[in-house]
Amino acid sequence: MRHVQGRAGWAVKVLTALGAVALGGCAYTSNLTSPYRSQEPVADGPERGRVLYLRDCAWCHATDGSGTGRGPDLISGTNGAAMTDFMLSTGRMPINDPSEPTRLSPPSYNPAEIEDLVAYVSAFGGEGPPVPVVDSEAGDLALGLELYQENCAACHSTTGVGGALAAGPDPFDETLIAPSLIRSTPVQTAEAMKVGPGTMPVFGSETFSDMEVNSIVRYLSHLQRPDDRGGLPLGHVGPVTEGAIGWLVGVGAALVIVRLIGTRVGEE
Ligand code: HEC
Ligand code: HEC
Repeated sequence: MRHVQGRAGWAVKVLTALGAVALGGCAYTSNLTSPYRSQEPVADGPERGRVLYLRDCAWCHATDGSGTGRGPDLISGTNGAAMTDFMLSTGRMPINDPSEPTRLSPPSYNPAEIEDLVAYVSAFGGEGPPVPVVDSEAGDLALGLELYQENCAACHSTTGVGGALAAGPDPFDETLIAPSLIRSTPVQTAEAMKVGPGTMPVFGSETFSDMEVNSIVRYLSHLQRPDDRGGLPLGHVGPVTEGAIGWLVGVGAALVIVRLIGTRVGEE
């Protein structure tokens, strides 16, 4: 008995060792590189923006923000405070690999660190807009609805749940998807309009006045908290699910009733 246990023990040890080697091999060959980042918090103060930038951003965007083969420059186009704040507050930056998709995720920095990074990056000279001040209460809901449906719904859908931009060869290609706006904050929404991240067009101050921006933001907050007076929201996807449920539940129920109250040919 002891003998068998001893052998089983060995077999387990050998298999574990082989498993560990195989897993190590996989990790070695996979591309999931992640740069070493010190987890030590950086002390608060005028130096913090610079320290964080050099540690987490410079290897892709260069020490002076002029860009490298791994990331674009942070000076041209609409780059500036609003762009940097948008990228950091939506957790789009930093990424670990230049080919990683940039999407909404929990931010890597707290608001004070973001402010310091924004100040540091802005000093590179990007002339894009400053971080906007938004007052959605000052906006007009009806005007917001009109502007949203005219200018944003084509990409982000009438209910703000997002949608496909174009049919590409890869249906999961992130760059061909307009994201959901359900979690966007008022400031992020105004920033997106002013800087046009990724493939989104820019809606600058010559397109929308502050009042119009406030109205769109107000309407979007309304979309984010709909009161669903009509009943079940069904994911706010719109007429397709509504129609499908209408057919399945409504027409199905009608058929059952017809069957219950009707008689078949030949039945009494
Ligand atoms: C692994 C490389 C990498 C790292 C690290 C990185 N970025 Fe980026 N960054 C990119 C790439 C690639 C893009 C372009 C993304 C796109 O358009 O989809 C980008 C875009 C940006 C943009 C928008 C630029 C534009 O013109 O559209 C800003 C601003 C930005 N990064 C800031 C930062 C900051 C600040 C950090 C550090 C906290 C950082 N990035 C870390 C690769 C990186
Ligand atoms: C041509 C299509 C298009 C139009 C029109 C458009 N957007 Fe976008 N929008 C995008 C894409 C694509 C992104 C994602 C950009 C990225 O992550 O690089 C985006 C991102 C956003 C985000 C950030 C969401 C997130 O995931 O953090 C907000 C907010 C936003 N758009 C608001 C608007 C508003 C408001 C309008 C109308 C004034 C509008 N968009 C018009 C395509 C569009």
